[in-house]
Amino acid sequence: MLKARESVRTLKEYHPPLGNREGLRLVGVEPEELLLTNGTDEAIHIICETYLEPGDEALIVVPTFAMYEIYAAATGARAISIPAAADFKFPTERVLANISKRTRFIAVANPNNPTGAFAEIRDLTRIAEAAPDAALLVDEAYFEFCSETMAPKWRQLPNLFVSRTFSKAYGMAGLRIGVLMGTQDQVQMLRRASSPYNLNSVALACLPDALADQSYVQDYVGQALDGRRDLENELSLWGIHFWTSRANFVLMHLGDKCKPFINEMREGGILVRNRSSDYGCQDCVRITVGIREHNERLLASLREVFAGLGLREKVTR
Ligand SMILES: Cc1ncc(COP(=O)(O)O)c(C=O)c1O
Repeated sequence: MLKARESVRTLKEYHPPLGNREGLRLVGVEPEELLLTNGTDEAIHIICETYLEPGDEALIVVPTFAMYEIYAAATGARAISIPAAADFKFPTERVLANISKRTRFIAVANPNNPTGAFAEIRDLTRIAEAAPDAALLVDEAYFEFCSETMAPKWRQLPNLFVSRTFSKAYGMAGLRIGVLMGTQDQVQMLRRASSPYNLNSVALACLPDALADQSYVQDYVGQALDGRRDLENELSLWGIHFWTSRANFVLMHLGDKCKPFINEMREGGILVRNRSSDYGCQDCVRITVGIREHNERLLASLREVFAGLGLREKVTR
């Protein structure tokens, strides 16, 4: 906190983020193997600007986080959407079949947003090996909730990048801190496209303390995972179809109850996301879990709203 206050007092000074790289103890990577970014959004932007140009192709498995397509298309490259397999499973064979000599970027959120699906490391390795001329970005924004990582596999796969964020488990979304990791050579290339002052000094001042406070992160993740388990159990009791998640949210199909459910929950002060406009997610809602108190409130409201909408529990408690 003191460092954060002091950084506000010295806002008039320039603070390049490079000086702070030494403080990062994320996955034991070398400072030369990472770039701090203004959130993962900027990491995606920098990769697209570095590797894509008009005529190139970007492969994006859908449904997924929207920014891959937005930044890829902004370069003039063709963004090719590859539908997920049944039950939103990662479509390894489809991705492999779509790799061409024009493929320069492949984006995978792992775990995925909004489905919570997880792509196996061995499948992502096959993809990286099959597309040596493409940058494969494995976006691990929800890593802390799932604990499996592709890092630091880039030492064997030079076209692999792994990104992390402080927006989710660390609860620092407004500060905008992301980390992009890859081989030293590739990271050096990315650095050329990145502004030297891309992180603000308040964010930089908070970063070492946030990293040092792993007990906070573990406690928060523990509460979120308990909340996810309880939410999934509750949905099973009501016979609601949902997709098993490795992240801090659950996607569920509510059919014609989708819109009224969202409205009723909002009335009760709980915001849940309508994902109907995402590929394959018609009438689906994504609910994020968090601290114990919020999770308990969520379940209480959910029961009330389901009952109010005329749903009946399918299994006796
Ligand atoms: C998969 C994924 N990547 C990245 C982000 C954005 O992260 P940041 O706040 O670090 O830009 C999100 C946010 O919803 C996300 O779901």
